Amino acid sequence: MQTPNFRFRRLRRSNSLRRMVRETQLSRADLILPIFVEEGIEQPVAITSMPGVVRYPESQLADVVKRAAAAGIPAVLLFGVSQHKDALGRDTFNPQGLLARMITTAKAAAPEITVISDNCFCEYTDHGHCGVVVDDDVDNDATLENLQRQALVCARAGVDMLAPSGMQDGMIAALREALDGAGFTHLPIMSYSTKFASAFYGPFRDAVDSSFKGTRDSYQMDPANSREALAESLQDEAEGADILMVKPALAYLDIVSQVAAHSERPLAVYHVSGEYAMIKAGAAAGVIDEQAIVMETMLSFKRAGANLIITYYAEQIAQWLDQTDV
Ligand code: PBG
Ligand code: ZN
Repeated sequence: MQTPNFRFRRLRRSNSLRRMVRETQLSRADLILPIFVEEGIEQPVAITSMPGVVRYPESQLADVVKRAAAAGIPAVLLFGVSQHKDALGRDTFNPQGLLARMITTAKAAAPEITVISDNCFCEYTDHGHCGVVVDDDVDNDATLENLQRQALVCARAGVDMLAPSGMQDGMIAALREALDGAGFTHLPIMSYSTKFASAFYGPFRDAVDSSFKGTRDSYQMDPANSREALAESLQDEAEGADILMVKPALAYLDIVSQVAAHSERPLAVYHVSGEYAMIKAGAAAGVIDEQAIVMETMLSFKRAGANLIITYYAEQIAQWLDQTDV
């Protein structure tokens, strides 16, 4: 019998050997925790479609941020659930509005943590679209002007990083112009640079109680397109984005890998609500091992080329990392 001409199994014989040749690591430093904050509630409200995730009252935001910092999570991403919605999302222009208050509170709670604002309008508009609606569609350039106003409110409230998620053309250039013009040249932008119009956001829409009924197909990307996906991220890099992002994550690892190969910028993935909910449902049904599935999923993001992972599992992962040998 012919013996194998090379034996890969030689380096798989022990845990120490496997650790020595492991190519990819997951660390706390990779994690960003999204936090939902709802106006006008006194107690946390469970999000039924996302077991284990809640909408926090403003009075508890400080504690949640402190807990994340204590767990070694370097950054939080803030989402507001507004009770002051209008056609434009004007609450985000208000230095005393929910968006500004969340930033101030989070920053004061744990000055060492990086506070990131989700910069969009859908959580603050009565129609639920990500910008100004004109003739049944989001008007790109009118939305950019509003995004500039919103960004300055965030900057003045002390945000550490802005994360525009509305998928409007030119949004990074517009933000950079507004920030630099007001003296915020040091503030980084993490762009939701390649964001697909995805059914994986379904549970998030429950989470933010979105009144939204339509589709975002006229501004978010078609899941069928990969060349355009790369072009979207490279365009945002050219406009000055400091960090790029692919969203959702697991179903789009081909895109993650391409963006990583073509850009020198750090790359984030957003492990979105539907991805979270599917793991929770599988675990509840007893058909998968939750911890093992989550850790393997995270590793796959890193292996594909992601540097940062936005995930509702961030706190749980930090605990699991404590217990495992890495
Ligand atoms: C909206 C926004 C969405 C998510 C983050 N910001 C949903 C959407 O585009 O409808 C999705 C997050 C998730 O599903 O976890 N700007
Ligand atoms: Zn939006």
